[in-house]
Amino acid sequence: MAEAGNADPLRMLRALRERGTRVEFLWGNARCVLVADPDDISRALLDRQKSFARSGGPPRLARLLGEGLLRSQGDRHLRQRRLVQPAFVPHRMALYETEIAALAAAHARRIAGRRGACLHRYFLALMLDVVARVLFGERRTGAIRALGRRADTAIRCLPSSVGTREWLRGARFRIALAGIDAQIAGWVRSARSHASDRGDLLWALVHAHDENHDGAGMADTELRDEVATLLVAGHETTASALAWAGWLLSRHPGWQSELAEEARRGAHSLPLARAVMAETLRLYPPAWVLMRRAIRDYDERGLSIPAGHHLVVSPYLAGRDADLFPEPLEFRPERWLQGLEHRLPPGAYFPFGLGIRRCVGEHLAWIQATHAISALCRHAGFSPAGAPVNELPAFTLRPDRDVRVTIQRFPTQEFSRLADSTSFGPIVQPA
Ligand code: HEM
Repeated sequence: MAEAGNADPLRMLRALRERGTRVEFLWGNARCVLVADPDDISRALLDRQKSFARSGGPPRLARLLGEGLLRSQGDRHLRQRRLVQPAFVPHRMALYETEIAALAAAHARRIAGRRGACLHRYFLALMLDVVARVLFGERRTGAIRALGRRADTAIRCLPSSVGTREWLRGARFRIALAGIDAQIAGWVRSARSHASDRGDLLWALVHAHDENHDGAGMADTELRDEVATLLVAGHETTASALAWAGWLLSRHPGWQSELAEEARRGAHSLPLARAVMAETLRLYPPAWVLMRRAIRDYDERGLSIPAGHHLVVSPYLAGRDADLFPEPLEFRPERWLQGLEHRLPPGAYFPFGLGIRRCVGEHLAWIQATHAISALCRHAGFSPAGAPVNELPAFTLRPDRDVRVTIQRFPTQEFSRLADSTSFGPIVQPA
């Protein structure tokens, strides 16, 4: 059995994948099987999903997210899902779409004309604004910025390290967590005090009842955990995907002008922006690896995973499979324009996961991402202004440094010239 280190997990996954589509390995103390065949993946995560539980994360993740949707298991997870999912129905999301588009346009107008801006920070601030305002009804800019700093600190301090600076990370994490808890408690109090629908998602959560079971709603501790989960899952993931989209577009100005044209035409469903995001999620899926623990012996089509061992699947590896995506390292949004998403088998492209644990915020994420990237291209043209970025596989797959760009306000002649110039070529090959 191969032993895998933690130093460069993406390189490790790529090396394991070269050995085949079912590869046993040791990841720390965990006995794992990397599964890369689309049929095996959909059978395990869809048809036989009850054979697996979601693997836990680092202890600090448990303190940050509590028993919210991402971390809860079994019956508790099903109950929380019944309570949370109705708040994400498409017709409710449609109400948020106008506000999200307006926020994206306001942020884009502010960044246009700035030199050396970092697109990752830009999208983090925008997504935080969207989640805080639209989902939780927070409109005070100062409070949103403070929350952003705390969330960022907490996420950066998630992995415990060894060494003298560990106490400092631990202390920073605790202070950030206390601030986040206080802010969430204030939001929950405010949502409870409104009898009529305020329109935001938190109001829907506070007033949700489990009609299929005992009719009970969520206690304050449950609400705290759900809000912390949605806050972290709802802005960090989409901002990482957008940072990569921005980086790719900075090297493909022709696609910037396509998106700007689409935005100016006022196309409602933004199909080109969606294709750009689909292609970005193929190359740089924020959830780069998904892990499950077998709760009973699993044996399907010759794939055996004993109880207690872990199933490892990777949207990152799947998206770079040359059999499914010709020239997989090329940025080609056009491949998504003829309904490819619907033709692929479910286990071939799954940036939002599969089965009962599939992302509850997927529909919202598409709205956030397409409007954010479309508004930026509508108002500004941008070109690379810093060193190339590499992948940092942390809580999400984020760029390892600032995504620096030079931004020109749009419409300008400079933008037209930028858009006419040739693209910067294929994305950087993995080492
Ligand atoms: C581009 C953006 C996003 C991506 C790529 C993404 C990806 C994922 C993936 C892969 C999972 C499944 C994890 C697993 O199977 O172990 C997941 C679950 C989840 N996501 Fe997202 N997500 C995104 C945006 C969002 C947003 C905007 C929200 C909410 C506001 C959200 C909330 C959640 C929650 C609560 C879960 C847990 C669902 C459950 O276990 O029942 N995500 N996400």
